[in-house]
Amino acid sequence: MSKFWKPGTERPRSSLIDDEEGGVLFVSASASSSGFGYSTLERQRQRLPVFKYRTAILYLVENHATTIIVGETGSGKTTQIPQFLKEAGWAEGGRNIACTQPRRLAVQSVSARVAEEMGVKLGEEVGYTIRFEDVTNSGVTMIKFLTDGVLLREMMDDPLLTKYRKRNQGDAANDSAPSTVPAILSVEGKGFTVEIYYLEEPCSSYLQAAVDTVLSIHDKEPVGDILVFLTGQDDIDAAVQLINENALDHRSHSSGLLVLPLYSGLSRSDQDLIFAPTPKGKRKVVISTNIAETSLTLDGVVYVVDSGFSKQRFYNPITDIENLVVAPISKASARQRAGRAGRVRPGKCFRLYTEEYFMKEMSAEAIPEMQRSNLVGSVIQLKSLGIDNILGFDWPASPPPESMVRALEVLYSLGVLDEDAKLTSPTGFQVAEIPLDPMISKMILSANTYECTEEIITIAAVLSMQSIWVSARGVQKEFDEAKLRFAAAEGDHVTYLNVYKGFIQSGKSSQWCYKNYINYHAMKKVVDIREQLSKLLKRFGMSLKSCERDTQKLRKAIVAGFFANSCHLEAYSQNGMYKTIRHSQEVFIHPSSVLFRVNPKWVIYHSLVSTDKHYMRNVMAIDPDWLTEAAPHFYQRKRPNLSAPF
Ligand code: CDP
Repeated sequence: MSKFWKPGTERPRSSLIDDEEGGVLFVSASASSSGFGYSTLERQRQRLPVFKYRTAILYLVENHATTIIVGETGSGKTTQIPQFLKEAGWAEGGRNIACTQPRRLAVQSVSARVAEEMGVKLGEEVGYTIRFEDVTNSGVTMIKFLTDGVLLREMMDDPLLTKYRKRNQGDAANDSAPSTVPAILSVEGKGFTVEIYYLEEPCSSYLQAAVDTVLSIHDKEPVGDILVFLTGQDDIDAAVQLINENALDHRSHSSGLLVLPLYSGLSRSDQDLIFAPTPKGKRKVVISTNIAETSLTLDGVVYVVDSGFSKQRFYNPITDIENLVVAPISKASARQRAGRAGRVRPGKCFRLYTEEYFMKEMSAEAIPEMQRSNLVGSVIQLKSLGIDNILGFDWPASPPPESMVRALEVLYSLGVLDEDAKLTSPTGFQVAEIPLDPMISKMILSANTYECTEEIITIAAVLSMQSIWVSARGVQKEFDEAKLRFAAAEGDHVTYLNVYKGFIQSGKSSQWCYKNYINYHAMKKVVDIREQLSKLLKRFGMSLKSCERDTQKLRKAIVAGFFANSCHLEAYSQNGMYKTIRHSQEVFIHPSSVLFRVNPKWVIYHSLVSTDKHYMRNVMAIDPDWLTEAAPHFYQRKRPNLSAPF
């Protein structure tokens, strides 16, 4: 390869062996991608490392209440073990086999793969459930993939998860009862070596370096797909564009590239392209977030390009600001990324950093997410499962006490927890049942009082999307004009109501969305989420009511959920600087808000993003009297009794 690459001194094999997940993956024969007939799929199944352990796995599951199976990413744990269990009769008699995944995209793609392997339609024998999307058929579905969050929510209704767990447990006197001692099985296989290359000098832009490296691999290396790890949709889309532009410029050598982005929120058809076999004569380049690090396995990858960065969540309990920031990955992640190149034959990994940096500066392991997150959601889930002693709870990785106290404070101020830190009834239990951020849930429940549930569930649905606007690179002026057509003086929330109304009036037209720079898929999702929220409200005995043009009512309902995010414009400020009421933090209105440059005196925001400054996203003008009206306890600075037994 080009001269700035330096082979790593660490022996390639060892880079895989001390992987955090234990065993090394050794694949005995080359597995081609999916998409062929049943027999090819069947052969692919048989080549996976777990296949050899089928009998052992079934024996252990039969005889132990808990079986732990350890094996490298891609060894077949997720796709095969549920099928083994089903084949052995574990899904009979009204039982279900559940398989959780940390990511929604993984849930969707893995369930589609298993349905394909079993030759059934997705949503019948094999289905999936993610928040606001249930693709199962009760009574028919035997294997269900779901996110951890959905399973936790199911536990609220059914703490013992009886539909998955009907077995005779714990009866020690009975010889046939499974042992309560967990069984541990390590699934090992045969992996291929991955040669590691480092940059000789640090690079100034990992994006440009990644693009150059892909083109250079394509130029000089034999066939084999390329997996590039970048950080998020923005840099991934930019890289896809740069590589494609280059392909146009140099028709001769870059034209065989099929460049595909991979991040959560991709449409179904884009996901399918990722897993479809690479067409003959083409080289697939998948540019991904860290979702392809452990959650998804792509066959056919021979080259990995590792930027050394990923988007990570960081939460500061003092300022109560949670951010997704681009941060360096750990050595463990770097090794896991490299391992993705050795699945079908010996591979190469190009690290866009120096070996010295890897050896001396990269941390060994990442900080567990639990220690870098806002805990409001976790605390409310634990409380609703009846686990009251949060501080004494046996967390897998103990979060900082400040984060726990902050979460308890927020929930107390929302009226979700009482003075003894127990869930209030009915508000606390209802908030726990709505699968949204507790502030949004509280806003929805308050809308019942203010008689504006029709409007509030639309707003809640839009706020749970990343954005309903289409990013408009290069056409900013047209985009701003389109936005003005919907803009409301009250701010973004009321603007969203105008967008929704327009969408419905257009007959949910994709053309209309296109013309107005609105994301059609996001709007369809909004309609869907709205429908589900309306069913949930009905279950609580609340009906849908509209406040018509009285936006004051709905703004008060929003304040009832978001009073803690209030800000005041600094009187002397020339540049639109606000200060948060809670922590006197300096914040600004995000340029994407319709209130950008309007700068009302008092506002509340939905979330903060930090780049060079802290920016408020989704901003609404308020009357400060509404704050004390909505949360007198909060603004009198009364705090929960922290000595209570949490
Ligand atoms: O769970 P684990 O990481 O051990 O592996 P898996 O997800 O069951 O993946 C086993 C195989 O299924 C891999 O070779 C994947 O490439 C393949 N697979 C696929 O082709 N399409 C998917 N959507 C998921 C997995």
